[in-house]
Amino acid sequence: MGAEQKPYVIDQMISAKAIAARIEELSAEIEEEYADTNKLVVVGLLRGSFIFIADLVRELDLAIEVDFLEASSYGSGMESSREVKILKDLRGAIEGRDVLVVEDIVDTGHTLNHVVNLLRSRQPRKLKTIALLDKPSRREVDFRADWIGFEIPDEFVVGYGIDYAQRNRNLPFIGKVRFT
Ligand code: IMP
Ligand code: MG
Repeated sequence: MGAEQKPYVIDQMISAKAIAARIEELSAEIEEEYADTNKLVVVGLLRGSFIFIADLVRELDLAIEVDFLEASSYGSGMESSREVKILKDLRGAIEGRDVLVVEDIVDTGHTLNHVVNLLRSRQPRKLKTIALLDKPSRREVDFRADWIGFEIPDEFVVGYGIDYAQRNRNLPFIGKVRFT
């Protein structure tokens, strides 16, 4: 992949403060939706959601457990592939359980669509999805997350867990990649 060698700068798009404020709003809605749960299984999609799920669960005043699933769709660069593979499955069973799937970005929609179909086939009691970011203009399959942090234009973004060729996940904000 030559692409990741090209020099670029990162322009801030969403501040850490704005993300924190939005997570507070979203967590209140999630608490309401799952008010009757005895224990919510919060499923993070690796790796991009690791910071989002960490901040989100700390705002949730619910009994929860955390599990992770890794699906591949992007390779090392910026191009999405349509074929989604499960690289790491959940540790726990979700039949009859309340589940919340946490994703970083919905782009073409292939990844979450595939994951949701797979998890629904295991017959959870309730399964909903949250994505920090949504790029609706890029959608290729009809998929909408139940909760979205921010709708963004068709820009390649990094930070707050999200990478470009594995870099920049540790930025505390969301920024867009601009080649120089
Ligand atoms: P989808 O299957 O096209 O919806 O892809 C979603 C996945 O692509 C996300 O989980 C991200 O890992 C990755 N992705 C989509 N857009 C971006 C971006 O702007 N920056 C980094 N990764 C992205
Ligand atoms: Mg991802």
